[in-house]
Amino acid sequence: MTETKVHFRKEEPEKSEAETLAFFVFEGEVPGAARGIDAKLGGEVKKHADSDKFKGKGLEVFVHHTLGKSSAKRVMLIGLGKKEEFFFDQLRRAAAIGAIYARDSTFKSAVFVLPNPSELKSDARSVARGIVEGALLGVYRYAEFKTEQKEIDELKEKELKEITIIASNGINEKEAEEGKRIGEILGRSANYTRDLANAPSNILTPRGLAEKAAELAKMHGLKNSSIVGKEACKKAGFGALMAVNSGSDQDPAMIVLEYSCGKKDAPTIAVVGKGINFDSGGISIKPSKGMELMKHDKSGASAVLGIMDAASHLKLDVNLIGIAACTENMPSGSAYKPGDVVKTYSGKTIEILNTDAEGRVILSDALALAASKKPDAIIDMATLTGAVVIALGSIVSGEMGNNKDLLKQIFEAGEKSGERTWELPMYADYNEHVKSTIADVKNVGIGEAGPISGAKLLEKFIEKVPWVHLDIAGTAYYEKEKPGFCLGATGYGVRIVIQTLMDWKELKKEKK
Ligand code: BES
Ligand code: ZN
Ligand code: ZN
Repeated sequence: MTETKVHFRKEEPEKSEAETLAFFVFEGEVPGAARGIDAKLGGEVKKHADSDKFKGKGLEVFVHHTLGKSSAKRVMLIGLGKKEEFFFDQLRRAAAIGAIYARDSTFKSAVFVLPNPSELKSDARSVARGIVEGALLGVYRYAEFKTEQKEIDELKEKELKEITIIASNGINEKEAEEGKRIGEILGRSANYTRDLANAPSNILTPRGLAEKAAELAKMHGLKNSSIVGKEACKKAGFGALMAVNSGSDQDPAMIVLEYSCGKKDAPTIAVVGKGINFDSGGISIKPSKGMELMKHDKSGASAVLGIMDAASHLKLDVNLIGIAACTENMPSGSAYKPGDVVKTYSGKTIEILNTDAEGRVILSDALALAASKKPDAIIDMATLTGAVVIALGSIVSGEMGNNKDLLKQIFEAGEKSGERTWELPMYADYNEHVKSTIADVKNVGIGEAGPISGAKLLEKFIEKVPWVHLDIAGTAYYEKEKPGFCLGATGYGVRIVIQTLMDWKELKKEKK
């Protein structure tokens, strides 16, 4: 697929020579930005903005040809719904829907007119960023392995070559352009994460992910101290990663990348991801129905790479350590088994009661490694439990942690970025869930509050560093398409974590 280019320019809509000029419309209103062109078209925009074909309802699209009455060839109206019910993510979704509509109509480009930020109770930077982000996420698709020429040609025919954002008089141009730049980076990094997470496990192995990490490191000048291969991981003391890897013919990898902003006194944040390239369940094997979806069990690791990419492009003012524990979870004669006891990187032991609860096992090594580097905070992302999908669906991720201030910062970044979370409790009472009779902890809970049992195990390995765990099992991929997202990987994690880092505030001291 050729990349969709993104442009920004200052332009008055009524003078635009766009192939398709898109306006965002609240129900029953003509947007301020469209008044000029409406006058030129003799009130046509107003007429169409409230017709039987278009009402401005959320995510409705209507396109009409200007038949030479304006320099723009077509006008597209995209509904934002009722003004009083507007929430910011609706703008991203609307931009996505508009871009998809243009693409599927075989238009080659779309020009989005920046709405007046005050009409959205926002600012030019956020509005431009939101539109670009939404449009890039919207036109993403994953069709890597098509070989039939006819189908390839059809897909080629439906490619949006470029999107442009135009700011008319009265909109802060500098801010809007900056927003476009940030939106483009975030959209592309999230789509890069989606490519990794969507990749089948026979194509992208743990070693393959480590190679992708090496490419990133080279491109951005990151420090790469990844440990790759059975021997190297064993020697490094990653006993938990090795246990999960023991049933697989593929080498494991502990990816470790570091981004430095060049300031020693800047905060250092570690982002940690679960990288199970395929989760068969191992000896506690999963049912075959839906097992193919477990190629997505590397979504946390894929997000870590996307975050390192975005942070480097944005030159964020923080130091970042990206860690991803990667292996397949497979059954075989050499696989780890229920009843086994595993010695982790930290020295603590885990009793394995179910080999399908492997995410928390590999993360015990990754989190202990992260904690040993003494960062100011750790954020981990993992498709950890089916139970979080039961509890919260695919709308929000489960958010758990040990530091109120960090939990709040991440929750707020979720609201702002559109990648939302909801907090689950971590009372000490839940420690019972992971108590083992023969080892330090056990890897399954007591058959209730599954996401919390998982987080409780993880908590044992972070050594009191402020930490938040995001259970992204429901949000990392969609089994059906949603407004603005095709089926498959969503790239969840990149936007919420980057938002957290952009808005970073030193954590308040907490009594221990
Ligand atoms: N990768 C799965 C969790 C998962 C389930 C992700 C559905 C996405 C969609 C994880 O490794 C797993 O199998 N967890 C078990 C834990 C249980 C055995 C304690 C689960 O949720 O069933
Ligand atoms: Zn599993
Ligand atoms: Zn898993």
